[in-house]
Amino acid sequence: MTTVATPYHVPLQSPLAAIYASIRDELQQVEQTLRNQLRSEQSYVDELCRYGCLMGGKRLRPALVLLSAKACGEIETAHLTLAAVLEMVHTATLVHDDVLDGATTRRHLATVNSRWDNEASILLGDLLFSQAFFLASSLDDVFACRAIGRAANLVCEGELRQKGTRGDFQLSEAEYLTIIEAKTAELCACSCLLGAHYAGAEAAARQRLESYGRYLGIAFQIADDILDIVGREDTTGKSLGTDLQQQKPTLPLIRLLEIADADTRQRVLHLATSEAETAQAPLRDLFHRFGTLDYSQQQAHHYAARAASQLDALPPSEAVEHLHTLTEFVVRRFA
Ligand code: IPE
Ligand code: IPE
Ligand code: MG
Ligand code: MG
Repeated sequence: MTTVATPYHVPLQSPLAAIYASIRDELQQVEQTLRNQLRSEQSYVDELCRYGCLMGGKRLRPALVLLSAKACGEIETAHLTLAAVLEMVHTATLVHDDVLDGATTRRHLATVNSRWDNEASILLGDLLFSQAFFLASSLDDVFACRAIGRAANLVCEGELRQKGTRGDFQLSEAEYLTIIEAKTAELCACSCLLGAHYAGAEAAARQRLESYGRYLGIAFQIADDILDIVGREDTTGKSLGTDLQQQKPTLPLIRLLEIADADTRQRVLHLATSEAETAQAPLRDLFHRFGTLDYSQQQAHHYAARAASQLDALPPSEAVEHLHTLTEFVVRRFA
């Protein structure tokens, strides 16, 4: 494992260290942009902004913008702006998501909803969204605003669809995939597309990188859903177990319901609809017994491999190698 110095948010031992070191200066400029954008004369607002967006996070979407730019050409000023915009949009969705999930920990800190309250979270999320679009509008053309508007809209639609399927244990694997594509993968796809576009990439390379981001995002969310079941809160730094608690069907459960015999199915449905915390351990045992965590991991690998294959047509470079390594990271991550 690499131990080069990394910026701020990424632990020294992280497999991301070498990747982030290659874009360290640019990531620092992105942090500076975020600090400049997210300040207020009002101390209450200032503290919320600082706490909600400036502390923690892997900064994966900024890294995708910057690496995609380098894979196609040079990092331009527009990329630095857009990397900050995408991180603001992403963080807004997290601040809101923590309200939906009733989560108490995020980025190794108390969530905004638990340290302040749901009202502060909703308004901070709105502030981050609106500031993001205001900043994106400082670019000369509307391409980025349009792409980010579309992606952010799909993210919200994905979160809404997920809310609508709570307690729906008939949800198919195909429907689950379209939900995670919207709520998570679209923003990753958008990050890569904008990185490529503002580096002057041709249509084919832009499309490849956009697909790369989309498949990477799907793999990332499947891995996240596995972590929600078997991960550790001290390494992920966020509340886990909320998917089962909130009766959100994710892949390990969907698969279990699909392959289990009728008796087991009844037992699973009974456990999955139970309000009791104690229902999670027997469900975990069943996921293990029926191999559905392994199955989900294989699916994550499948999408990570599809992401990697999008890179084949790009001219080889250090940035492309780093994008490749990211496809390995997203399925093996612990945080
Ligand atoms: C969390 O995203 C939300 C999901 C899409 C699973 P990240 O894991 O990238 O969150 P931060 O930015 O590092 O906190
Ligand atoms: C939400 O997915 C992803 C968003 C688009 C906000 P999760 O609910 O699984 O994200 P975490 O686990 O809370 O980070
Ligand atoms: Mg959540
Ligand atoms: Mg999750």
